[in-house]
Formats: sequence, C-alpha cells, structure tokens
Amino acid sequence: MGKLWNVAVVGAAGIGGGQIIECLEEREFPVGTARFLTNSRSAGESIEFRGNQVVVAELDDDSFAGIDIAFFAAGSDSARKYCPGAAMAGAVCIDTSGAWRMDPRVPLVISGVNSGALTGYSAAGIVSVPNSAVIQLVSALKPLHDLAVIRRVVVATYHSVSGTGAMAVNELEKQIRSLFNGKPAEAKVYPHQIAFNCIPQVDAFTDNGYTREEMKLIDETRKILGRDIGLTATAVRVPVFYGHSAAVTVETERKITAEDARDLLRNAAGCRLLDDPAERDYPMPVDVAGDDLVAVGRIREDFSVENGLNLWVVADNVRITALNAVQIAETLVGTYLK
Ligand SMILES: NC(=O)c1ccc[n+]([C@@H]2O[C@H](COP(=O)([O-])OP(=O)(O)OC[C@H]3O[C@@H](n4cnc5c(N)ncnc54)[C@H](OP(=O)(O)O)[C@@H]3O)[C@@H](O)[C@H]2O)c1
Repeated sequence: MGKLWNVAVVGAAGIGGGQIIECLEEREFPVGTARFLTNSRSAGESIEFRGNQVVVAELDDDSFAGIDIAFFAAGSDSARKYCPGAAMAGAVCIDTSGAWRMDPRVPLVISGVNSGALTGYSAAGIVSVPNSAVIQLVSALKPLHDLAVIRRVVVATYHSVSGTGAMAVNELEKQIRSLFNGKPAEAKVYPHQIAFNCIPQVDAFTDNGYTREEMKLIDETRKILGRDIGLTATAVRVPVFYGHSAAVTVETERKITAEDARDLLRNAAGCRLLDDPAERDYPMPVDVAGDDLVAVGRIREDFSVENGLNLWVVADNVRITALNAVQIAETLVGTYLK
C-alpha cells in the first residue's frame, strides 16, 4: 500500500467543506487520519467518512499537529488566522477562501490549467484555490488564450446563493416559502430579497465602485493568465441554488472563428462543450449540479470588434471548488510531498 496522508478539513460542516470530504472519498484520496474541524456551533456533530463516523472538533491552535494536508473551507478570517500556524506545524494548507489568493508567495492554482505553479507551494506552505467564478471563467479562457492571446475580457456573472454558504441557501428557500404563503420575505444574508430578484451586488463595494467579487474576478484571472489582459466584470446574485453562470466576451490578438473555439473547448481539460442551439442545447445551472466539468456554450462571434467571441459558461460552483482543492492535493502528494 502507498503512503497515507493525514488530512484536516476546516469548515467540515459547511457546504464547501462537505463537498471536499465527498471528493476525498469519491476519488479515494489516500487518507490516513481524517480530522474534521469547525466553529463551536457544529463541534460535536458527526460526519460519515468511508463508513466511519468522524466527530467534528472545534478549531484551535493545536488542531494541525501531525497533519500533512489541511483543507480550509471556513472563510477568510479563519484562514488568515490559522494557515500560518498550520504550515509551521508541517501541514500544506489548501485554502478556498480569498485570504491568501493575491499574496505573491502563494500559488493560485486551477488544476490542469496552471498546476505548474505548485512548484512554489513551500514558500508559505499555502496554496490558494481561486474564487469559483474564476475557476470556471479561466478554465474556458485558457485554451483560447493559448491559441490566440486574449487582449480583453468583459464578463457578467450570475452567482447562485450556494456561493455564500449554507445560510444563504436556507434564506432563498425560506423567502420562497414565505412569499408563496403571502408573508414578507425577510432578508438577513443579502441586502435585499433574493427570491424572484437579481441583486447587482456580490460582496461589499470597494472605493472604485466595483464590488469585492468583481475585483476578485479581475485580479485572480490576471494572476493566473497574465497581467497584460484587460478585464472588466459585473457580478450579480440570482435566485439559483447551485451553479454560477457567466456571459463572457473575449477579444483576442489573432482571429478565432466560433467553429475553432468549439473544437478547442470540446477537447479542453476540465471543460464540456454544450453548444447546439438548434436543439436548444446550452449550459444551464439546473443541469450542472454535481458535475465536475465547466460547461461552455452559446459560442458565437462578436461582430462589434475585429477578433471577438461570446461565450456562456456554467459550472457547479461548490463542486468545482472542492474538486480543484482535492486535485491540488493529489498533485502535491504525487509530485512534491515525501
Ligand atoms: N460555497 C461555495 O461555492 C464556495 C466556493 C468557493 C469557495 N468557498 C469558500 O469556502 C468557505 C466556506 O464557504 P461555505 O459556502 O462552505 O460556507 P458555510 O456553508 O457557511 O460553511 C462554513 C463552515 O465554516 C465553519 N467556520 C466558520 N467560521 C469558522 C471559524 N472561525 N473557525 C472554524 N470554522 C469556521 C462553519 O462552522 P460552524 O458550522 O460551526 O458554524 C462551517 O462549517 C469560504 O471561504 C468560501 O469563500 C465556498
């Protein structure tokens, strides 16, 4: 039997942490000890893993002793606070929050897109997983960039509520129920009612008028694909439970026809082409739940510029984030860790 790795999952009782645990199990990651960690609220609960009940412990400074790989899915505050200590204790941290993504010492990695960046994992002992909307955007853009050099991207994203976590999923469900029963929709997680609505604000506003989510789309994409790319973004929260969508307009240095783009994306790592408008075949959030691949469709030329393409890109945000985190761990244990 090969080496087994002691693994911690921080945020194990949440949407993202739960999906990481599922991916570890499904992909038969060689786990020795599994340690599941959360806030005090869920501590003491049990989570089934490989046929055993694992009791969830409260996260503290001693949580990472003996751990080889620590997955963080509990938000930026806990990642900022605990990743350095976990790394000092010898664990490689794979963080799904925004805490470390723009730190120059920390590789920002999409498996299969820029896995080579993992060579820098030891600088801080932390690897960051991009924002889920960035994973799907960059997965679709990378093959186009490799072929024809992307100059500019205009993206509008349609974020499902699961991107905010379990409380937001409950809020949408509750609001729908209340409205159908003639009661008002109470908004706690979002600044406005999300049921039957679209909110053009994802996360807080920054000084430049963009939201933090929009700046993540811009900054993280450029960290992975290159800072020469111009990018502007509008992020909108929509009343969808699972699956983010993105309308993407791309301008390239060299011309790519819609047919060439289809051929590229049909065979691209991590992507699935779903583009047969005559059959009303195109990606939709209801169809991608649980899917590992980023679905791309509605590919057509943008007639308003010389070398332009339009795409529609949809993926299960929770799934692709967790999968990416586990694939990073697979590469680390396969290539870098002893
Ligand atoms: N949902 C997505 O699509 C998605 C995608 C990409 C990245 N992420 C990232 O994943 C993280 C969690 O998101 P989520 O959607 O899974 O949220 P969630 O469903 O609300 O779950 C959050 C989990 O984190 C735990 N937690 C919160 N603060 C903690 C702390 N200070 N110390 C220890 N545990 C803490 C919670 O514990 P209790 O249960 O005890 O409260 C819960 O288990 C965020 O960083 C988010 O950016 C999520």
